[in-house]
Amino acid sequence: MEKISQTKSTASIAESVGVVQTQIAKIELSDGGFQFECGARIPELQVAYETYGTLSEGRDNAVFICHALTGDAHVAGYHEDVGKDPGWWEKMVGPGKGIDTDYYYVICANILGGCKGTTGPSSVNPVTKKPYGSLFPKMTVSDIVDVHRLLVRHLGIEKLAAIIGGSLGGMQVIDWTVRYPLMVKRAICIASATCVSAQALAFDMVGCDAITSDPDWKNGNYYDEGRGPVRGLAQARKIAHITYLSPAMMMRKFGRERRDDSENKTQSGGLGEWSSSQLFQVASYLKHQGEKLVNRFDANSYLRITQAMDEFDVKERYGSVEKAFEAIQAKCLIVALSADWLFPPEQSVAVAKALVHCGKNVSYCKLFAPHGHDAFLVDIENLSEVISAFLPWVQLDTADKLYDEPTEKTGVVPASPVSPQRAREFGVIRDMVQPGMRVLDIGCGDGELLSMLKAEKGVPGLGVDIDLGCVIDVIDKGHDILQGDIDEGLAMVPANKYDYAILSETLQVVHKPIHVFREMLRVAEKGIVSFPNFGNWLNRLRLLITGRMPKGGVLPYEWYDTPNIHLFTLTDFFNLCNQHHLEILKITYLYSGWFNRLLVRMGFCNLGAENVIAKIAPRG
Ligand code: COA
Repeated sequence: MEKISQTKSTASIAESVGVVQTQIAKIELSDGGFQFECGARIPELQVAYETYGTLSEGRDNAVFICHALTGDAHVAGYHEDVGKDPGWWEKMVGPGKGIDTDYYYVICANILGGCKGTTGPSSVNPVTKKPYGSLFPKMTVSDIVDVHRLLVRHLGIEKLAAIIGGSLGGMQVIDWTVRYPLMVKRAICIASATCVSAQALAFDMVGCDAITSDPDWKNGNYYDEGRGPVRGLAQARKIAHITYLSPAMMMRKFGRERRDDSENKTQSGGLGEWSSSQLFQVASYLKHQGEKLVNRFDANSYLRITQAMDEFDVKERYGSVEKAFEAIQAKCLIVALSADWLFPPEQSVAVAKALVHCGKNVSYCKLFAPHGHDAFLVDIENLSEVISAFLPWVQLDTADKLYDEPTEKTGVVPASPVSPQRAREFGVIRDMVQPGMRVLDIGCGDGELLSMLKAEKGVPGLGVDIDLGCVIDVIDKGHDILQGDIDEGLAMVPANKYDYAILSETLQVVHKPIHVFREMLRVAEKGIVSFPNFGNWLNRLRLLITGRMPKGGVLPYEWYDTPNIHLFTLTDFFNLCNQHHLEILKITYLYSGWFNRLLVRMGFCNLGAENVIAKIAPRG
């Protein structure tokens, strides 16, 4: 520890898991050894792994992290060598961080076929006493997961509190939750997909070709040569690295800047200048990334792991993604990164959509991530918050490690902080919903209504909201939520999936109310709509007397900073329902004061009602 503080700031060490060591587990196998999906076997299997935090007495706080293509078991902390880089997710894993080692026992293991301690092509085959090389079996993502499952069992853990992974790690998360549903309580899949796109396959193909066409590759049997296909591997990394950054980030980092490096400036205008690959900063950067990988990675591992990733295809394997997802029992969180073009957000949306279709517990969010695919390693502030909110509450043995604040995770629902007027409205909505119903809360805000429906009616609703802060709040309260712009529709929600879709104080804030209305009644049998009634006499009087937009009561905003962009009256609402063939099944008026009450009782509802809550359904 002392040595490290010479090179790293004291603060970063204090927030770190500190000095850690990679451990090796020799997995006990039956006589036949470990069998790959392709049928091939290897007689011995070892797994390199690291753990941080303390395993609870009940062994129920283990969080397994699945690493991506060229990652390894070293997620957090520092190895003893002075100056060595911290783990690859140091910013995410540690005391007080997104994956908080004060609460969770974190495990990460190098994957099968890797070159960082787990058995792979460069490991010595005990039969031939030589590295496996080309004899290392073709493997799949399921083989990788099976090896990790053996490790988890080896560590005496039967059920994981959570499993987390990005990119190829996310594919492992999907495979774990589908094939071992009883072993996974929560699953977090970041910037991943049920299969890679054609474009990603193309990049991988060119990268792998660069390795296999390097004369030093020698069909994968290069270990005795003292030199491997370093040029091919570096080239493969350069190609892949292009896909890890967004075009905008590439431009921001390097632009068209040229290197001020006279040594590398060869004859101008000639081919030599290009072939030096040094002319542009971006080329120099890629060269650096290529060289860095060559110093730490094995080309055969790169080929085998890339092949496993490219072959991963949930639909191909199970007939349909939905069929595969039927088995899932874990609560899932799907995270997309806005500027990722390797695993674009649409692929994460497809995963979330299939989970919603299967009626699984799923939350989805798209994080603003200008960096591109690598953002899950770099821009981790929001990601940390989302992950921390999603991870299950665990009770450790020592009382001082319990969460201080009671939250829904502790089973103690805090008193509702909503205004009395909102509480009345929620009460009316609650009375319309019956236990056992499926409810979608469109524009759910911070999830207070969802909490009420869950606590008082036992209805686990699904929320939809655009705001990331709300998404985090809702996830933290233990509900499912899909982040999305409801003006763009409810693309992730299949038709007729819900009994009720609720638009609570939302219709007036959307840009396309008709579209939202239609979407609401596409996904649900009935709708519940609540809105402030602009037709209330006080609003009319304020406008008449002051000549200004009304402010006060249920309309507390100035005209220029109001979220209410489509104010309408009760009569407008009736007209809308008429025009769109909607039947009002039930309507409730909320008001305060004797005069409003009198007006409503006399039938002048558009004058007396301050808020309206209506249950609607398509006519006929
Ligand atoms: N010429 C040469 N080298 C340059 C350079 C230039 N013009 N500009 C920057 N570099 C070097 C820096 O010196 C630094 O080197 P170091 O890592 O040896 O210290 C490195 O490039 C910085 O890389 P950069 O990508 O800018 O850092 P980042 O903080 O934005 O991202 C990583 C960090 C670790 C995510 C990224 O470097 C990386 O390795 N990405 C790949 C991770 C991966 O495998 N993802 C696959 C997911 S499937």
